[in-house]
Amino acid sequence: MMRIRIRKRLVITAMMPIIAAALVGFSGEKKMDDNLKWWQKTNVYEIYVNSFQDSDGDGYGDLNGITSRLDYLKELKVGAIWLTPVYESPMVDNGYDVADYKKINPRYGTMQDMEHLIFEAKKRGIRVVMDLVYNHTSDQNKWFIESAKSRTGKYSDWYIWRDPAPDGGEPNNWRGIFGGSAWTWCEARGQYYLHTFAAQQPDLNWENPEVRKALYDIARFWIGKGAGGFRMDAIPYIEKPVSFADGPVDDTEGRASIHDMTVNTPGILDFLHEFKNQVIKGHDVFTVGEANGISADQLDDWVGENGVFDMLFEFSHSTLAFKGAETWCKPDEWTLKDLKKALRDSQAATADNGWYPIYFENHDRPRSIDFYFGAHADRALAGKALGTVLLTLRGTPFLYQGEELGMTNVHWDQLDTYDDLNTRSQYEIALKEGFSPDEAMRFVHRFSRDNARTPMQWDGSEHAGFTNGVPWLPVNENYTAVNAELQSAQPDSVLNWYRGLAAFRCEHPVLTDGRFEERMTESDQIYAFTRTDGSEKLLIVVNFSGEDAVFSYDALGIGGAPQVLLSSYGFVPAVPDTLRPYEAMVVSY
Ligand code: NOJ
Repeated sequence: MMRIRIRKRLVITAMMPIIAAALVGFSGEKKMDDNLKWWQKTNVYEIYVNSFQDSDGDGYGDLNGITSRLDYLKELKVGAIWLTPVYESPMVDNGYDVADYKKINPRYGTMQDMEHLIFEAKKRGIRVVMDLVYNHTSDQNKWFIESAKSRTGKYSDWYIWRDPAPDGGEPNNWRGIFGGSAWTWCEARGQYYLHTFAAQQPDLNWENPEVRKALYDIARFWIGKGAGGFRMDAIPYIEKPVSFADGPVDDTEGRASIHDMTVNTPGILDFLHEFKNQVIKGHDVFTVGEANGISADQLDDWVGENGVFDMLFEFSHSTLAFKGAETWCKPDEWTLKDLKKALRDSQAATADNGWYPIYFENHDRPRSIDFYFGAHADRALAGKALGTVLLTLRGTPFLYQGEELGMTNVHWDQLDTYDDLNTRSQYEIALKEGFSPDEAMRFVHRFSRDNARTPMQWDGSEHAGFTNGVPWLPVNENYTAVNAELQSAQPDSVLNWYRGLAAFRCEHPVLTDGRFEERMTESDQIYAFTRTDGSEKLLIVVNFSGEDAVFSYDALGIGGAPQVLLSSYGFVPAVPDTLRPYEAMVVSY
């Protein structure tokens, strides 16, 4: 077998790892398992539509902007793009408040633009994945407008209405996920309606078969348009418990988290089996549920052989800073061991049954470099370290726009600069909990969802090449140093590391479905695991700390004559015994 031997202090240029990958792949490695589906063998890229690429100068990203960037995505070996909601919406929660699921938000373009995007993407082997917001609609949706009018009528039972408590107050003490009561009063009906999220996002009543019929019809509509899959928003909340009793109080206002009261309520899987059988079955599309609160040991029910979806985003690693409710001013400490355990559990749960969507970023989380390493970390090395894990674990990697550039958090001084409604409400919560305005801002800097929502940094021109107009959210000020154009030309950039690894993953099927086994589980610095199949064995070692980390192949249980195929430092000693700060290596053994 032909291998590239890496000599001491040999400088690897950006192309060399790719060449190495190609040669190793060429030399008769195992062919990808033919039973795997297309979405198991590709990368998915999440696009936060507002912030990806503006084509008409209004300061918001749009569909034609996405079409113009498809070739960029090809280079990352992307086979599907997941679009955050593009439907008609008052945009209180940037599209997660849908007014009409079958119409395109004029801010983003027209249905023709959408069809054009699906067509152009398909030409490049890229499928378009739609975001299905099934737990709630906008209060501007005609279903809700009708429902709110009276207690009798076609839509009166489409949402969750309750009479006031005997004292005239809210039906129970539940707190919405964005803070404040989960109930809002409706004068016309003399009742409250329930909302898991903002008051403008009323929850649908899934018990009503007419509601389910209408929702299923929407998915069929988009399959008809050529959608390649669905991301199912906030899905563990769709079923509510029979009793709407008060829950255990956990905040200063005397409320109980609605998440704890409604997540994964028994009976939910019956609805989702119905959805799968009546809508998804027989179509070459995938489903991935967004599933806060579903733990690794429950994954089998959801994505196992008799499960309801193909994949599930479980939250254990992305919410490490919160053991209970995600209240930003009450963060928890966590260590690398906690992260490793979270990833190990979901890798194990999907090893023989089901499939795992690997992710570190999305539009609801701060940037991963800041979250997992802290603002002090070397940005490029930390970005490469995370990218290495993302593209070498077992499952389907889900990249989030800008992650491949190593984009980082923003630290704006004024709360007004932030757009996200949850950021504003978390700031208020911090004040109510007794923190000073400065302290409250520090929580915002650390956790705001807007950290990940700033415009994509395409180049060093004004507004980072995102728009010719005024961007809806300011561009991160580091854009002249961190942008796609610059990084394309830099052999050792984060972007070229991602491109190289994405190509490497394609050449090495063992990374897609080979066995995962963790090594050095007790290390506080090193994350190490092997990926093996009948014909290839790879070791991935990543130093998660800013200090040198001692390691040896012996300690990792690796025999034979290991050879470093990729190193994020570009050069390695013949027999490395130390990982440099944030160093990531892929080793063949
Ligand atoms: C999860 C989405 O990802 C988030 O952005 C949104 O605010 C909530 N669900 C409500 O739809």
